[in-house]
Amino acid sequence: MIIVAYLCGSLSGAFIVSELMHLRNPRDYGSHNPGATNMLRVNGKLPALFVLIFDMLKGLLPVYIAYRLTIPSFYLGIIAIVACLGHIFPCFYHFRGGKGVATALGSMMMIGFDFTGLFIATWITTVLITGYASVAAIISFLLAPLYVWFIRPEFTMPVAMLSCLVLIKHHSNMVRLSKGLEPKVVFPMKK
Ligand code: G3P
Repeated sequence: MIIVAYLCGSLSGAFIVSELMHLRNPRDYGSHNPGATNMLRVNGKLPALFVLIFDMLKGLLPVYIAYRLTIPSFYLGIIAIVACLGHIFPCFYHFRGGKGVATALGSMMMIGFDFTGLFIATWITTVLITGYASVAAIISFLLAPLYVWFIRPEFTMPVAMLSCLVLIKHHSNMVRLSKGLEPKVVFPMKK
């Protein structure tokens, strides 16, 4: 299941959707991040929605299958982290992947509707207030370990590790934010 999780995570929703729909590859435009946010900037809402769903499913499915196979919760956490590592370091794309937001969210969804709802509400509220997807991701992943500690404490450690991964991958966003250069969600960026 760990190998399956890594291979699933390594499939890039942004690359596959842009190829299938004959669109611009977000890796070559905008923030150059192969994720749903940059897909939105580069190709619009519908392709971005497809990327979001694809990247969430590739995190959710390995954890769900492992759960159905009654694999213990400790290993579910490891499988979730490995799926996210696959997205960040994909073997199919020279180990140059995305930031893991949607994949981490998908892999954490098995924790429950309460946790998922809180996480999504935090992301949406932050993006509506600030206009920055990166700030929304940073705040949501900073709070995620706290949320899970209250709701399902046994998953605090894997969620904290997922959060660290995603936060580290947002270092370029933090630099751009500090310089006032971070684009808002739908701000069109030049190549
Ligand atoms: O989901 C990734 C988002 O938090 C930042 O993406 O393209 O603005 O670097 P981007």
